[in-house]
Amino acid sequence: MSGQIGDSKINEVRERTDIIELISQYVTLKRSGANHMGLCPFHSEKSPSFSVHAGRQFYHCFGCGVGGDVFSFLMKMEGLAFPDAVRRLAERAGIDLEERRLSPEEERRQKQRERLYQVNELAVDYFHQNLMELPAGEPGRQYLKKRGYGRKAAAEYKIGYAVDAWEGLANHLQQRGTAVEDARTLGLIRPGKQERGDYDLFRGRLMFPIYDLSGRVVAFGGRVLDDSKPKYINSPESPIYHKGGVLFGLYQVRQAMRQRGEVILVEGYFDQLALYRAGFPPVVATCGTALTADHARLLKRYVQRVLLLFDEDTAGRQATFKAMAALQEEGVPAMVIELPSGEDPDSFVQSQGSKAFQQRLDSARPVMDLFMEDALGKAGAGVAETVRAAEVVVQRLTALNSEMEQDLYLKDLSARSGIELQLLKQKLDEMSHQETQSAARPSFYPELPEPPYAAPPVNLHRHSPREVGAPVTPPWSRAEGMLLALLLHSAQAREKISAAGLEEYFYSEKALLLAAELLRLIRQDVPDLEDLNRRLDPGMEPFLNFLMRVDPEQFSGAVEDILAGCRATLQRENKKKQREQILTQIRLAEQTGDAERAEELMGQFKNFK
Ligand code: UTP
Ligand code: MN
Repeated sequence: MSGQIGDSKINEVRERTDIIELISQYVTLKRSGANHMGLCPFHSEKSPSFSVHAGRQFYHCFGCGVGGDVFSFLMKMEGLAFPDAVRRLAERAGIDLEERRLSPEEERRQKQRERLYQVNELAVDYFHQNLMELPAGEPGRQYLKKRGYGRKAAAEYKIGYAVDAWEGLANHLQQRGTAVEDARTLGLIRPGKQERGDYDLFRGRLMFPIYDLSGRVVAFGGRVLDDSKPKYINSPESPIYHKGGVLFGLYQVRQAMRQRGEVILVEGYFDQLALYRAGFPPVVATCGTALTADHARLLKRYVQRVLLLFDEDTAGRQATFKAMAALQEEGVPAMVIELPSGEDPDSFVQSQGSKAFQQRLDSARPVMDLFMEDALGKAGAGVAETVRAAEVVVQRLTALNSEMEQDLYLKDLSARSGIELQLLKQKLDEMSHQETQSAARPSFYPELPEPPYAAPPVNLHRHSPREVGAPVTPPWSRAEGMLLALLLHSAQAREKISAAGLEEYFYSEKALLLAAELLRLIRQDVPDLEDLNRRLDPGMEPFLNFLMRVDPEQFSGAVEDILAGCRATLQRENKKKQREQILTQIRLAEQTGDAERAEELMGQFKNFK
């Protein structure tokens, strides 16, 4: 059983590792105040922006934004997984990592899972043997053959056949001494009514085993051999099967995915089989479910982009756009492959061959393209409808991580809809803004009360014309503005922020500087906050004025929440920016033909979570 390293051990290792000493093995560090500075090892730079905080056991690069603790440093530097980084540093610090004992409950669950894997193992062998060898498997063999597959595919996937009987598997498992409870938990058998015993879930079906990443069978999909319904039955969720986190074929194609950096995502078991055999190995199928965020994260570990290939019907479109949204959330670009309507990948490859499929693949286009087309197409010619459709598209664009991409799509949208580009840009700005606000508000932003000074609604992001003439956008984001206001008005916030270090909270240069200045002045007991105004850069005055007029009452009792919320928002925003920076650099490297640099950056981009 693989041991687990307990949290307290991990903390111990972290504490006992001198971060300066560790990082000094890779980077020349120079002391600078409370920090150490050096040239960032994770991006190329000429002046040092990589800082290490000894006290907090934390590093951060102001240039590329990487940051973390001793473990993440070693993981990045040496390409290690987390447990290995912990082991290595434990060894270095002379800490014995006697791995954590499981609690009785954990142990029980772990044992149950082991048993469930074993039961599935028995089942997969049973089904497979039926199909490959036994007379009772003849219908399955016939069917598979009709679909164009022989023993080779059957063996590679360990496809099987569930005989058309009530107690085929149930009896088999009983003979092997399987606990009824376990087989029920897996959904392989179900309790019969009254005196009758348990009966098989899968009867008279071709059986596809579904593997996890370690190659263990976690579930089955079973297809009927005729036109009866339901066409497919899938194993229910169980302690070893969560369909939202498993993809059919992933185990078989994971190497190919890594090599190609892309994967085709299809809906059906046979679609996966067909494309795999036709020589398009990186292909996986969802198991009768929409693509989830977990799926997206899983795919992201292997590929840089996903090619969606769902049915050309309404449901298929919906599935496509849902997948697009899930992938966008994870920053994974998605393309769409289109087939003539009525065809699925399996039928298409069987009838048109792989060359024709390759052509389809070559003309894959960004899924956003299709989304736009779909939205505007549905809208018809009416003005109001077109506007609404354009808004739907713009709303979707807010989820994109790259401003450049957004820009290209806006141009496209403008051309297609006839709406002025400038207007669309404004709309996007507005919507992006609302997006961050509404995402943030329920959890932590206080409802700003009506201010006493009869100005337009308080909005930390934009200034009211009354106060400063024309609206001015402050040189920081809304969350940073909120933090600055807190810094001014709450001693508790000041304490927390300065204990953690300003760099933990502020990302924009101006905000960081102002925050530092504020802290310094307040520490010196500047009696009148108005006095700050006189000392600061005159350009900052309107912003400072504004900050000072924020009513401190609204923070009362919620400082911690607001701090945490702002911090999370800023981290998210910062990541988005960094991602964009790397992408820009990649494009630059590609343009200048610096393949090596581009590759290196791709690596960075891939590792970037
Ligand atoms: P389709 O209805 O498109 O079938 O379902 P298919 O994959 O083309 O199947 P074949 O080629 O006729 O054998 C697509 C996928 O949706 C899930 C299955 O994963 C299937 O492969 N599904 C479909 C179910 O889970 N249950 C069903 O009843 C039907
Ligand atoms: Mn099909």
